Amino acid sequence: MCGIIGYTGSSHNAKDAVIEGLKRLEYRGYDSAGIAVFEKGKINLYKSKGKISNLENLLKDKNVSSNCGIGHTRWATHGEPSETNAHPHTVGKVTLVHNGIIENYNELKEKLLEEGVSFKSQTDTEVACAYIDFVYQNEKDKLKCLIKSTDEFRGSYAFGIIFEDEPDVIYATRKDSPLIIGITENNENFIASDVSAILNFTNKYILLEYGEYARVSKDKVEIFNHELRKTTKEINIADWSSSEYEKDGYEHFMLKEINEQPKIIANIFKKYSTDPSYIKNVDISSYSNIHIVACGSAMHAGLIGKYLFENYDNIPVTVEVASEYRYKNQLITPNTLVIVVSQSGETADTLAALRIAKEKGAKTLAIVNAIGSTIAREADICIYTYAGPEIAVATTKGYTSQVAVLSLLALEIGLKKKTISKEMYEKIIEESNSIESLLTDTINKHDEYLNIAKKIHEKEDLFFIGRGIDSAVCMEGSLKLKEISYMHSESYAAGELKHGTISLIENDTPVIAVATDINLYEKTISNIKETKARGAFSILITTDNISKESTVDFADIALTVAKTNTFIQQIIVVTALQLIAYETSKLRGCDIDKPKNLAKSVTVE
Ligand code: AGP
Ligand code: GLU
Repeated sequence: MCGIIGYTGSSHNAKDAVIEGLKRLEYRGYDSAGIAVFEKGKINLYKSKGKISNLENLLKDKNVSSNCGIGHTRWATHGEPSETNAHPHTVGKVTLVHNGIIENYNELKEKLLEEGVSFKSQTDTEVACAYIDFVYQNEKDKLKCLIKSTDEFRGSYAFGIIFEDEPDVIYATRKDSPLIIGITENNENFIASDVSAILNFTNKYILLEYGEYARVSKDKVEIFNHELRKTTKEINIADWSSSEYEKDGYEHFMLKEINEQPKIIANIFKKYSTDPSYIKNVDISSYSNIHIVACGSAMHAGLIGKYLFENYDNIPVTVEVASEYRYKNQLITPNTLVIVVSQSGETADTLAALRIAKEKGAKTLAIVNAIGSTIAREADICIYTYAGPEIAVATTKGYTSQVAVLSLLALEIGLKKKTISKEMYEKIIEESNSIESLLTDTINKHDEYLNIAKKIHEKEDLFFIGRGIDSAVCMEGSLKLKEISYMHSESYAAGELKHGTISLIENDTPVIAVATDINLYEKTISNIKETKARGAFSILITTDNISKESTVDFADIALTVAKTNTFIQQIIVVTALQLIAYETSKLRGCDIDKPKNLAKSVTVE
C-alpha cells in the first residue's frame, strides 16, 4: 500500500529525510513517488512514475535544500500510474499526500467544477486537495478548515498537508488509513504511514486516531480533537531497530524472513508455555461458533485454524474473506466469536469486517503482528504474533506466526473443554520444543527445492492438491507461487479435481500434492494417480515416516519433511512450499520482495 512521510526540522535536509523515509516504505508496494518541499517560501513538487530511483535521478541535479517536506509512494486506485497522478498534489495554497480512497470524490468534483476549479489529474486525491483549498478560501483557521473539509469526505484517508502561507508546518489527519507522528528532542518531527520510515531518526511516535488533527512543527507537536481541544497522547517507543529493515546478508527480505521463522515460531510456543497472560488467559471455550475473517494469506491461516478448532475443540468455524464478510448477512449470534487475522493490522477490508462484527454484538479477537495497529487497538482482545517487521510483500513469517497462534488457541480451548486429554496436550507441547530444529532442517533442504523449481519454473499452470488440513496449506502454497513467480496455479481439494478441473491436466502439467494426514494418505495418492493417468508431472510432499521408495510409481518427485503433530505440521510443510516458490521465482527472474501490482498492506477497499 502507499507510503506517506513528512519532515520538518533543522537537523536534516528535508529532501533527504523524505527520500530516506520513502525508501523505508518501499516494501509497502507502489507505482510512483513524489515529494513537495518548501524552498525559499515556495512549495515545489518533484514527482516521477515508477521506482524511487527515478525520483532521485530527477532530484540529483536540482540542489534542493529545505527544512520541511512531504513525500508519498502511490499505489494507484483512481487514475493510472503516472507523473501527473503521482502525489503530492497542489491546488491553490494547499499541497497534500493521501493514503486511501475518497469515495464521494465525484460529488465533490462536480461541486468544485461548478465553482470553476480545474483539475490536472484523474485522482480522487486531487479533488480532496481542491476541496480543502476551496474551504480554506473562507475558513482561514487551518484546523477548522481541515475539520470542515474532511467532515465532507466519505471513504478512507491519511493526509499529510502543507499550506503555502505557513512554511515548515505539516498538518495531518486520518480515517481508516494509518498515520503516526514521529517525535524527537532535536528540532525535528515527522509524520509517516508506519514507524519503519522514521526509525533511522527516532523510535518515539504517537498513534494518530480517527477524529484527531495534528499540527507538526520542528519543535512542537499539537494534537486536537474534533472540537479543537488539545489532547495529550501516549508516546510509544518502537522496540525494534532499523536493522530489522536490512537484509542482513540474505539475497532477499523474503529469504531472510523465511529463515527467521524457526526462532519466531519457537518463541511463540515458548512464550505460551512460560507467560500465562499470553493466549492462556484468552478464554474462548464458551463460544458456540467462530467466524475467522481475514484476507489473502491471513485467511489461509484461518483455514488451518478451522481444521484445528473443529477437529480438536468441536467448535463450528466459518472462514470468510473480509471483503465478502463485510457485505453479507454475517449471522452473528451472542455466542459468536469473530477472530480477525492480520499481519499489518491495517487491511481495510479486515478492519471494516471487525467494526461490523463489533456493531453486531460479537466478541472480537484479533491476531496481529504490527504492534499498535488499528485492528490491534480496536478488537476486544488482541494476541500479537511478535514476528517482527515483515518487509517482503509476500508474507512468510507473518503467516506461520498466525498459524502458530491459532494452533495454540485451539490447543488451549481443547484442554479447557477436555476435548484434548492432558496427556495429548503435554505430548504436543513437548514436541513443539523441537520446532526450531525441525524448521531449520526443513529450510536446509535447499537442493530439493531448487530441483523442484527447475522442473516447474517454465510452466504456466500448476496445481496444488491436498485433503483435509493439507488442502488448507495448499491454498497458501499456491498463493506464494502466484505472488512471487507470476505463475498461474490453483489449489484444489484433491477429491474435487475430478469434478471438472482435471480436464486442464495435460502432459507434464505439474501437480504438487501435499499428503501428511495418514488417515487420508491413500485417498490423496489415488488422486495423484488420476492426474498421472492424464500425463501430470507429480510432486508429492509428505512426511518422513513414509518411505520414498513406496512413492516411485506415482510421484515423479517425492519430498519428505519431518513428521510431527497436527498442531505444527503445517508450519513445517508451508516452509517447504515457501522455498519452492522462492526458488521458482528466482529462476523466473521476478522481483521477489516487491512483486508487480502487489502492496504489503492493502489499506484501500
Ligand atoms: C500475503 O503474501 C499477501 N501479501 C496478502 O495476501 C496478505 O496476506 C493480505 O493482504 C492480508 O494482509 P494482512 O495480513 O496485513 O491483513
Ligand atoms: N486514491 C489515491 C490515488 O489513487 C491514493 C492511493 C494510495 O493510497 O496510494 O492516488
